[in-house]
Amino acid sequence: MTCRRFAEKSPDDCLSLIRMSLKATQMSTTGTQFEGSVPHIFITLGASGDLAKKKIYPTLWWLYRDKLLPKNTLFYGYARSKMTVEELRDKCHQYLKVKPEEKEAYEEFWKCNQYVSGNYDSRRDFELLNQALEGAVRGQVANRLFYLALPPSVFDQATVHIRNGCMASKGWTRIIIEKPFGRDAASSEALSKHLSSLFKEEQVYRIDHYLGKEMVQNLMTLRFGNRIFGPTWNRDTIASVLISFKEPFGTQGRGGYFDEFGIIRDVMQNHLLQILSLVAMEKPASIHPDDIRDEKVKVLRSIPPLALGDTVLGQYVGDPAGEGEARLGYLDDETVPRGSSTPTFALSVLSIKNERWDGVPFILRCGKALNERKAEVRIQYRDVPGDIFNGDLKRNELVIRVQPGEAVYIKLMTKTPGMTFTMEETELDLTYGSRYKDAKLPDAYERLLLDVFCGSQMNFVRSDELSEAWRIFTPLLHKIETEKIQPIPYVYGSRGPQEADEKCAQCNFKYYGSYKWKNPAEM
Ligand code: NDP
Ligand code: BG6
Repeated sequence: MTCRRFAEKSPDDCLSLIRMSLKATQMSTTGTQFEGSVPHIFITLGASGDLAKKKIYPTLWWLYRDKLLPKNTLFYGYARSKMTVEELRDKCHQYLKVKPEEKEAYEEFWKCNQYVSGNYDSRRDFELLNQALEGAVRGQVANRLFYLALPPSVFDQATVHIRNGCMASKGWTRIIIEKPFGRDAASSEALSKHLSSLFKEEQVYRIDHYLGKEMVQNLMTLRFGNRIFGPTWNRDTIASVLISFKEPFGTQGRGGYFDEFGIIRDVMQNHLLQILSLVAMEKPASIHPDDIRDEKVKVLRSIPPLALGDTVLGQYVGDPAGEGEARLGYLDDETVPRGSSTPTFALSVLSIKNERWDGVPFILRCGKALNERKAEVRIQYRDVPGDIFNGDLKRNELVIRVQPGEAVYIKLMTKTPGMTFTMEETELDLTYGSRYKDAKLPDAYERLLLDVFCGSQMNFVRSDELSEAWRIFTPLLHKIETEKIQPIPYVYGSRGPQEADEKCAQCNFKYYGSYKWKNPAEM
């Protein structure tokens, strides 16, 4: 590891950020990175688009600013629009959150940027891009990272042209892709075949940005680094597992895009299923990316395909008493086709047919236009057998809150302090905001893009994982679409359809409504 920027800056947060990546890199079959001063070129295809300006360029700038990238990293934008680097900079600027003291570094960052305009279906344009990339490093060994921030319609052509005309002649080439990875098992299989005809699996980095979130990454440590959880992490002790994603806003004018996919493809089949596989998998032989992903695939293979009866679907309607956007329902979004039955809320109950989990419902629940922003894992333990407390006990719950306000807490019973023998529900609470006051938690994309530089595929989706995910969801999705299953209306800003709570109750998830948390920060 000879990266100057790493060497110059080594605060604790930076070190913890990179530690796992580095370990994995050293073990990776792709070899170590950042050797000497080998130039790296990061090429964003679709540089004029929304994802590029809101996520990719800000992430590149933050990594550059924090000196986490290899020295001699250059950034190339490529898209059809004719633009200068200055115009690109203006487009992205508001999302880069530059502080006054960072101005100098910011100017330097943009000096490392270039923009090339070209079509995605033109071999000649990609050859010209290649010439520009070759020219930038003057025949030296240089590694290339292509980020495909492109719509699916041009994906196939662009990847063929990269393969035929734009691979690094000296050095490695890696391809980073974003969902949607197909629409169902068949289209995903076709995409995987297409990619594998062009690139080796170790060159392909499929992003699921939930794998870059602090608490999702913490699942492995919590589970396999603590003796207290291991022996109870199974069907004998755990009653049910609820994994939730909630957003307090609707489609915000992007309904046209959303309507093609729906909430199951948008969130459940990828983000929530990835969390499930980390919660439910067996302990891997090591932290090598392939050992981890082997276990994730294995647990997915034990999950039967979902049926409609396992699922509650919802679609939000406007709240007449609400304000602004809350008054509008999904169907009021002008970009949504009239009468669309696309779900904006879904709850599905998965079962895992293996020795550890048989009989434990894994409830995945996600929705837009709900009452709060929240992503969490809720592991609910069984009732204490042989109760001696007159039925006053409430179940233990281990809650891992992914966002906002990262926290791990365990709800448990305790004797009420003092001259009394009553009991109450309380918690062992690890709230990051108070325990790790000065820690800077990097954005998920920062970690993931750095992983690609490092060559660690631990936090990326392998093709066999993807195909298992589609196997589980495709029959359900096809049924919903061919039979035009009508979602249950729920009011913007509510907790979703009542039927979803009923389903949780049927699936051995108990809600008591009696737990009261006092935020220590407010006491
Ligand atoms: P609760 O038992 O109060 O609630 C559990 C969850 O049940 C709720 O989050 C809610 O989630 C769901 N729920 C609410 N109403 C119903 C209903 N009618 N039927 C079924 N489910 C229902 O415990 P929590 O663990 O949520 O804690 C309460 C509050 O304290 C939370 O805001 C939590 O974040 C906070 N807290 C924070 C800690 C920290 O920051 N470290 C530590 C401990 C607690 P949903 O609407 O998603 O279904
Ligand atoms: C994306 C979905 O993958 O994740 C969006 O397409 C969703 O619909 C987003 O809003 C949520 O990400 P985060 O990081 O804000 O929880």
